Amino acid sequence: MAGGSGSRLWPLSRSLYPKQFLSLTGKGSMLQETITRLDSLPCLAPMIVCNEEHRFVVAEQLRQRDLSHSGILLEPVGRNTAPAITAAALLALEQDSDPLLLILAADHAILNPAGFTAAVSQAVPAAQAGKLVAFGCTASAPETGYGYISKGEALSEYIYQVKAFVEKPDIETAKQYVLSGDYLWNSGMFLFKASAFIHELEKYHPEILSFCKEAVEGRSFDLDFVRLDEAAFRACPSDSIDYAVMEKSRNVVVAPMDANWSDIGSWQALWDINSKDDNGNVITGDVLPQSSSNCYINAQHRLVSVVGADDLVIVETKDAVLVANKNKVQEIKHVVSQLQQQS
Ligand code: GDD
Ligand code: MG
Repeated sequence: MAGGSGSRLWPLSRSLYPKQFLSLTGKGSMLQETITRLDSLPCLAPMIVCNEEHRFVVAEQLRQRDLSHSGILLEPVGRNTAPAITAAALLALEQDSDPLLLILAADHAILNPAGFTAAVSQAVPAAQAGKLVAFGCTASAPETGYGYISKGEALSEYIYQVKAFVEKPDIETAKQYVLSGDYLWNSGMFLFKASAFIHELEKYHPEILSFCKEAVEGRSFDLDFVRLDEAAFRACPSDSIDYAVMEKSRNVVVAPMDANWSDIGSWQALWDINSKDDNGNVITGDVLPQSSSNCYINAQHRLVSVVGADDLVIVETKDAVLVANKNKVQEIKHVVSQLQQQS
């Protein structure tokens, strides 16, 4: 899934070049790293599902790293993750009798890839048996941007029943969940048989299924790109897989994943996972810090000098500069919506 807008990492992440296409943790773009991480798993080349307007960025990023794929599926408009996954599942069902689908977000950081590989491999039997497996990571802070999964009875060494799946709770609820120690964060990565997912979708959100069927039937081809039928996909309701299926289905199980995972949902999260200088600053580009500590400073085009600052996020790009308190970075999305209203 590479169709998100990544507005919380403004001004580096822009609508034409969102987070999944940026190199934020070092080696390659988030998309490239996501695909490369699959090398250690016995899966077929991935299908990339993205917005029409990002098709050349995706194709170029695959080409740069010589990454193979089994199609770039283009959405004429974003309809969130449920339709994106449904369209891909329907296509996969045409190509194979009933494949296991590993659903990944193209914009996550995984610092322990061996933990990722192990959890996915260990979840295969449950998915083969028809379960929808959600991968869960330790909930270490009351983040409201995540889904929470309450772990029930163990079904095997690696798989647990789901007592409750709560998508994006409010802050008070999230605090209780974290304190209780019974909850995992939903990583947004899933493993299931295509037919098992379609079956649950039909039960809980049949409109998404019927519009996606129409969009897939009416698809057209252009080089490596597969274009969904525009009218049918536009008419499809917008919803995430979490609200549309995972919160409701009784066929979901959870596989804990110990992968040092992060959604990098904010500049603060990016500061958390990157290596720091002696004063706790994370620095990218041409930066001169002086008597400053625990800052995230990213200079794209100019020299940036920071004197006597603590806990700031400073991001310099060609046409916009962000200076923010590191503890207030969730508010950046309001800046982005203001900018969108103005344009
Ligand atoms: N193709 C496509 N089309 N991809 C999309 C679309 C779309 O319309 N919308 C989002 N995506 C991609 C994003 O690029 C990202 O890789 C992934 O799907 C998840 O979407 P987000 O918008 O980032 O979701 P979220 O972070 O708010 O919430 C989800 O992920 C959390 C963990 O990161 C949920 O699954 C939460 O429950 C989960 O905790
Ligand atoms: Mg996300």
